[in-house]
Amino acid sequence: MPLTTGADRLALIHSDEPVVIQLDHDEPDGPGIATSSNSQPSMVARMLRLLSVEDGHRVLEIGTASGYVAALLSRRLGDSAVYSVEVDPGLAHHAVAVLRAAGYRPNLACGDGERGWPDQAPFDRIVATCALREVPHALVRQLTPGGALVAPIGPRLLERRAGAAHGGRCAASGRFHGGASYMPMRSHRPPCAAPVDDTTARPVEAAVDPRAMLSLGFALPAGRPVVSLGPVVRNGRPPRALPVRRAPRGPPCCTGRRTTAEVPMTGRVGKTRNIFLVWLIWPLITLGIYHLVWYYKVNREARDFDERIDVRPGMAVVAIALGWILIVPPFISVYNTGDRIARMQRAAGMTPTCNPWIGLILVFVFSLHTLYYQQELNRIWALHGNRPEGEHVSLAV
Ligand SMILES: C[S@@+](CC[C@H](N)C(=O)[O-])C[C@H]1O[C@@H](n2cnc3c(N)ncnc32)[C@H](O)[C@@H]1O
Repeated sequence: MPLTTGADRLALIHSDEPVVIQLDHDEPDGPGIATSSNSQPSMVARMLRLLSVEDGHRVLEIGTASGYVAALLSRRLGDSAVYSVEVDPGLAHHAVAVLRAAGYRPNLACGDGERGWPDQAPFDRIVATCALREVPHALVRQLTPGGALVAPIGPRLLERRAGAAHGGRCAASGRFHGGASYMPMRSHRPPCAAPVDDTTARPVEAAVDPRAMLSLGFALPAGRPVVSLGPVVRNGRPPRALPVRRAPRGPPCCTGRRTTAEVPMTGRVGKTRNIFLVWLIWPLITLGIYHLVWYYKVNREARDFDERIDVRPGMAVVAIALGWILIVPPFISVYNTGDRIARMQRAAGMTPTCNPWIGLILVFVFSLHTLYYQQELNRIWALHGNRPEGEHVSLAV
């Protein structure tokens, strides 16, 4: 039933239920899918018990939402030791306001928590309050040696401890501790399913008790519409001017470190492009500007696919656009880009076929290096089934 009275709201807030605080990312006329919630108190208690914070610990939370967990952590450790990242700007602003009103001022940022908070790392503890498909490598790297991460992985609660870093390698191991019902991290949501044929009825025996499907715990991770609960904490847009810092996109805290096989590394899929459009047509139409944009994008794709690849795409563009003054930088940059593509191929589990020397030579043959590099990149994306750009895939090495 929709909540209509203040007493109903208070009763819900003080119950051991998760409370939806946002539907459809606040987009009007959406289907009513829960996109943020105040966590179930007993679930929070379980997570915090596993997290086992101690005096002096610095903690990073992913998924601030209402600020409930951030407030509890601030209470226990002090504001300055608590860092929390929320991807939704409206919720992030709202959390600043309500936490201040409650007397807490933890460090809050608006950004993709999958990247952690590299500028403030390392953390003794990291807790994700949204469900992950796998543990992002960036988070493991932001743990202190001996630090712990607690996160829902799919429907189960995982606790991982980071070992000491040996020879530049970050390792973590841990175990599952029962079930957890959390909505998926935005970038870890499954892609939309193909349209369902709902015109042909056929009897099917359900494996799940239909009554269980009405519970919020089921609806949240499944990303299903929640019909009976409306937002109960927040109404209307939050004020704009609140000081929420953007989560920094800066370089990872320990570039070049690797994880052990226990923590699967993931990367983002890049775009499959037509090699002739990339090489000739778009640059001709845009008087060469497209080439710079393309160069920026492929270098960014290298970094997003394998974050061990340390590249600043903007600098790569400067090298080819302005570096001609010094003659050498463009050639170094073209060679390095080819080398990055070869490393991406290796990370994808392929035998690298991209040869940066060939790329360098092709610069002098009608700038065919563009076509060559895009062709090599397309092979990587084809290996991953040409999934939509930005989707996460596991890396082979
Ligand atoms: C279940 S709520 C978190 C509950 C909250 N921590 C509390 O105190 O009750 C999950 C939150 O994670 C946020 N979220 C999803 N993906 C995220 C991401 N990539 N980075 C940061 N926050 C994310 C959602 O917007 C949502 O507000």
